[in-house]
Amino acid sequence: MIESARPGSEELVLGFLAEAGDEFVSGEAISDKLGLSRAAVWKHVDALRAQGYRIDAVPARGYRLMEIPDRLGELELRPLLNTHDLGQVLHWFEEVGSTNDIAKRLADDGAAHGEVVVAEAQTAGRGRRGRVWASPTGRNLTFSIILRPDLPPSRASELTLVASVALCQAVRQAGVPAGIKWPNDLLVHGRKLAGILTELAADPDRVQWVVLGIGVNVNVRAEEFPAELRDIATSLAMERGEPVPRALFAAAVLSSLEEWLDRHAEDGFPPVREAWRAMSITLGREVRVRASDRDLEGVAEDVDEAGALLVRTPAGLERVLAGDVELLRPR
Ligand code: BTN
Repeated sequence: MIESARPGSEELVLGFLAEAGDEFVSGEAISDKLGLSRAAVWKHVDALRAQGYRIDAVPARGYRLMEIPDRLGELELRPLLNTHDLGQVLHWFEEVGSTNDIAKRLADDGAAHGEVVVAEAQTAGRGRRGRVWASPTGRNLTFSIILRPDLPPSRASELTLVASVALCQAVRQAGVPAGIKWPNDLLVHGRKLAGILTELAADPDRVQWVVLGIGVNVNVRAEEFPAELRDIATSLAMERGEPVPRALFAAAVLSSLEEWLDRHAEDGFPPVREAWRAMSITLGREVRVRASDRDLEGVAEDVDEAGALLVRTPAGLERVLAGDVELLRPR
């Protein structure tokens, strides 16, 4: 596990090389800039190589970063983050049961707003409504973000929609035309790309913490899905026809999420609701809804000011706060 709030010298060397892109950077420039001896720079480059970074060293030219390992650890993610809170403390694991379970434990023990738990593999990944979230090792994005919003429990459900808008924005920026199925599934051409599992602890008048567990199919290939998911799931790579750099995408999700959390904290739910409506693939559709206490069918008309789904049924307008939506025919 890696836990650190401040970049170490190794990360700084890596950041320097990453910033130079395809260019060589001289050992002298790195040592001057970072206040390290040339031997120390060499030692850090060697340590980075041992972790899977491919770094060319050419006499009289310097170092050049050729390849970074496809991992979501501190070293890969930190240089890409442009957030003020989210991911500033990162808990990275090769394998866990569920990142949500780890994040909940950390939150109970006092973890700060924005701490992120990320894993290359989950042995007990959980989906909404008791389902399993399966994801092959090192292919996708499975992470959980601890939030400490200043909200009464009655408004906590808004964060689920904040997260879906932010995630949808990041996916669209990656060139994949996703839409949101209420409340927070991301679908592309009718197939599931990503899901969000929100869990929280609250006092009677205030939310203590929220854990947003996000699972995105990033580089999983069609044949790697379990047979029952093959026809109903997709990944960014399948949609784009090429692999997607996971660390870059993870950083983009955190940046988008922070942007929307800030907007929500400043302006409340209305702009989130507006964006959610614009990204929705649910509204205007005939739907079958499995709510906790009943099943109903009708046309999804809107989301209300609390994020509940409003469904026009033969019996009248029904308000659904939590449930599963199946999209039937377009209207
Ligand atoms: C769903 O669509 O049902 C929600 C899926 C959420 C999966 C993510 S993966 C990271 C985090 N850890 C978990 O165990 N679940 C969430």
